Amino acid sequence: MKTTLSVIKADIGSIAGHIKPSKALVESVTGCIDKELGKMVTDFYVGSTGDDVAILFCHQHGEDCQELHKLAWDAFICGTETAKGQGLYGAGQDLLSDAFSGNVKGLGPAVAEMEIDERKAEPFLLFTADKTDPGAYNLPLYLSFADPMHCSGLILSPKISEGFKFVIMDVAHTEEDRIIELNTPEDIYDIAALLRDNERFVVSEIYSRATGAQAVAASTTRLHNIAGTYTGKDDPVLLVRCQGDFPATGEVLSPYSIGHYVAGFMRGSHTGPLMPAKMNCSISYFDGPPVVSAVGFCVHNGKLTEPVDCFDHAYWDYIRDKVSQKACAMREQGFSGPAMLHYSELEYGGIVEKMKNLDKKFSC
Ligand code: F6R
Ligand code: MG
Ligand code: MG
Repeated sequence: MKTTLSVIKADIGSIAGHIKPSKALVESVTGCIDKELGKMVTDFYVGSTGDDVAILFCHQHGEDCQELHKLAWDAFICGTETAKGQGLYGAGQDLLSDAFSGNVKGLGPAVAEMEIDERKAEPFLLFTADKTDPGAYNLPLYLSFADPMHCSGLILSPKISEGFKFVIMDVAHTEEDRIIELNTPEDIYDIAALLRDNERFVVSEIYSRATGAQAVAASTTRLHNIAGTYTGKDDPVLLVRCQGDFPATGEVLSPYSIGHYVAGFMRGSHTGPLMPAKMNCSISYFDGPPVVSAVGFCVHNGKLTEPVDCFDHAYWDYIRDKVSQKACAMREQGFSGPAMLHYSELEYGGIVEKMKNLDKKFSC
């Protein structure tokens, strides 16, 4: 059976700054989608990560389905009304347009979708990250799909050893999708050469070379590229199918034990380590640290199991301590050097004016 998994996420308001949406907001989004259960959608899940609300839909209408995107948009509008009613911070922040125009891509929300032929058992992971941007998944995806240090299946399983096709997008090219397709293992150095630049090149899809089946769909939207000005960070979503011809669930989770440094953190303008966090987590220290949650499911005939919180385990408590130490180490550096993002990545235009004024005061 063909099933489409669509995850659509937006920041439409949160309590106490950019911390967490209210229960009422999440309930109003859920209520809107629930009306379509058994009609447009076969199943769905709503969760939050930091200040973002993510809706995972299971349906049979393929990718880029206008009605499905409109359902998500309307649910976010409904949630925004609740947010305004409660005086939440940043109500409707990620809805960049006054009206829906056929597809939520380019209108603010982050989207990742894939139409799959359901396997007999169809395990997959939904990743949602806050206070960072789409390039945050580059390193983990590379390590899970191309490096036997994290994916032992590359040594042990004949089908996985055939490698994967990476589809990588140049997100600076906003006129149209500019992509490149590269294969593992032969192209791994080229893949690494692109993926080291998290703000420019982003993994959008990965496919098994043994079967051609899609393993990964990731969001690639960069709001500041779309809007041309500061509109918030592009907190990304990611779907990864696991087991069988794909890396095992634990191999997909393994790279998150690094707590690698990503762009985001306070005011979307700093560098911080990516902390694996529990489902529906809030945000705290220095409006961060950047967090990622991993929610596991099986889908069968378009119906989801209950969600499993993959970072809710004693092992990850140890990692969270380590990541906190990495966050402190970077924060001791304040505004200096790598602690803050490059000029072009800062979320605030104000510094441009400041530099212009200062420029005039230089002696020559
Ligand atoms: C991401 C996020 C931050 C904010 C940034 C700007 O979820 O919340 O990247 O976009 O801190 O915040 P304000 O709007 O308060 O200037
Ligand atoms: Mg936000
Ligand atoms: Mg956010």
